[in-house]
Amino acid sequence: MNLLRFDSESAWIHTISSLWRDRLRTKPDLRICLPSGATPAGIYAEMARSARAGFVSFASASVFALDEFGGLTPDDPGRTRHMLQHQLTGAVDLPPRAFHFLNPEDPDLAQHCLDYDAAIGDGFDLMLLGIGLNGHLGMNEPGSPVDSSTRRVELNAQTIQSSVRYFAHHNLPLWGLTVGLKTILASKEVWLVANGAAKAGIIQQTVRGEMSTSNPASLLRPHPDCSLFVDADAGALLDSPGRP
Ligand code: PGA
Repeated sequence: MNLLRFDSESAWIHTISSLWRDRLRTKPDLRICLPSGATPAGIYAEMARSARAGFVSFASASVFALDEFGGLTPDDPGRTRHMLQHQLTGAVDLPPRAFHFLNPEDPDLAQHCLDYDAAIGDGFDLMLLGIGLNGHLGMNEPGSPVDSSTRRVELNAQTIQSSVRYFAHHNLPLWGLTVGLKTILASKEVWLVANGAAKAGIIQQTVRGEMSTSNPASLLRPHPDCSLFVDADAGALLDSPGRP
């Protein structure tokens, strides 16, 4: 795992966006898997600005949503699909048919997940990931099997609580659909991105602590092309030893 540390959030955003533009220029038909949420918001805003200015194009790319909350109304703006659409896919020149997302209303969820994996096919060129306070990747909570595929999962209590900021109501999601760890770990290139002091502890454990399914993010360490991008706050504990 390459560790890239930045003095400021703006330098963190600038570098990740610059590398992403580079990947799209090198491979315009890049297949990308993306999270929604607070962490990537600044990166998406920068990519949308770049696309508007004509510095980058998503016209031949494919974007897959990493996960989706279940148990909400289809039009809930806190859903991954809508957040991603608002933050990025609807703000760049990505053709609508190239935006793939999970549908928790599908009456046959097992088949829906199989179809999603079939559409993912040979996997992703680039996987962008945030990290949960408990190390989750997408909705792969601690204990998720390393060979897991896209599936329905129950959210753990901390994840449910953290989701409160995405909803204007108190009907918080208890479950979701997520791309599995197998697909995440098989991606050609993985960027794990974290900002802010709240993530400092889990970043320290991910880099210096035990490699174990109890911290899914730690499983990225042996990946041949995984980079961890942290701003100064998220990387603040990296110079102290991790939990044994
Ligand atoms: P965020 O965290 O919601 O702070 O972006 C990422 C995550 O929980 O996966």
